[in-house]
Amino acid sequence: MKDGTLAVGAGRPAPENFAPGLPGPVFAAHYHLAGDPAGPYTYGRDENPTWTLLERAIGELEGGAEVVAFSSGMAAVASVLLSRVRAGDVVVLPDDCYLTTRMLKDRLESYGAVVRMGPTAGDAQIRLLDGARLVWLETPSNPMLDVCDIARVVEAAHAAGALVAVDNTLATPLGQRPLDWGADFSVASDTKAMSGHGDLLLGHVATRNSELAEGVRLWRKTVGAIPGPMEAWLAHRSLATLQLRLDRQAANALALAEALRDRPEVSGLRYPGLPDDPSHEVAVRQMRRFGCVVSFTLPDEAAAERFLGSLRLVMQATSFGSVHSSAERRGRWGRDAVEPGFVRFSVGIEDTEDLVADVIRALGKIS
Ligand SMILES: Cc1ncc(COP(=O)(O)O)c(C=O)c1O
Repeated sequence: MKDGTLAVGAGRPAPENFAPGLPGPVFAAHYHLAGDPAGPYTYGRDENPTWTLLERAIGELEGGAEVVAFSSGMAAVASVLLSRVRAGDVVVLPDDCYLTTRMLKDRLESYGAVVRMGPTAGDAQIRLLDGARLVWLETPSNPMLDVCDIARVVEAAHAAGALVAVDNTLATPLGQRPLDWGADFSVASDTKAMSGHGDLLLGHVATRNSELAEGVRLWRKTVGAIPGPMEAWLAHRSLATLQLRLDRQAANALALAEALRDRPEVSGLRYPGLPDDPSHEVAVRQMRRFGCVVSFTLPDEAAAERFLGSLRLVMQATSFGSVHSSAERRGRWGRDAVEPGFVRFSVGIEDTEDLVADVIRALGKIS
């Protein structure tokens, strides 16, 4: 099956007379349960039929995997990092990954783990693998859009005895499948392009190893980081348009990057889909779509703020992946190694000409 067919039918139950194609959300704290407590549905923190269908859908998109859905991307990230690591273990993190993931360094160290950090570009984390138990990758990285070669890092990590988890938020499984490149976990914030409407928080962990899946599921049960049925259902409903949204967003992102490339106000332009981007060569080998985020730097903070304030079609907001374009001056959070004028631009599904024209007009306002 091709991606559009896969996405539109993912996780939907077999047809049944008089039943909807996708059953509505099931709201239940508990289920009728007489006698010995056996599943599939016992208590609302352990299982829910709406999660079951969403997890089945994401598992199909991930190319065949067990999936555990979470209340947010960070709940999914933490479930892997905090459930697998023990005192004395070595964990390798990217030093340029999503800022809240980096905040888990202190937590891991407080539990007695040793955390080593290196950049995503150039597969630099390979140099830190000696004695490692878990390697965390984020590719493309947020917000700098560097890419590492997943298969190459996985091979080195497995040889060193380490598991590999990949934060696949930016790409989504239709952009890249980390499990196909040998990773043990594919993790994502489904708050972003997976659900794609900027109206819910959700995350997931996918793996092809049942023991690893069980560990993550047990973590969810014990910390209670469970998705709401409404969010799970909305996300599942949104998956039907995933391929359409991603294709339009990627086409818009490329057009925007091309329009920005020769502008004198713009430096440090990054988009993995641009043939001369430093990430392109590796990206083209492992990705099928290059995502919706374009990043670039304007001369200074004031120029970036003027640019953002002059956009008419683009919401000023953090996050990315929505059908509505949004952008922010990333330095305002103070925790990424970016210039004051660095802009992370999330490209939506507006008409290309309108969006590019809005950006070019706003650029004209900064001088
Ligand atoms: C790459 C990446 N991973 C994880 C997260 C966390 O996701 P959530 O906000 O759904 O907790 C984010 C959020 O921006 C992200 O960009």
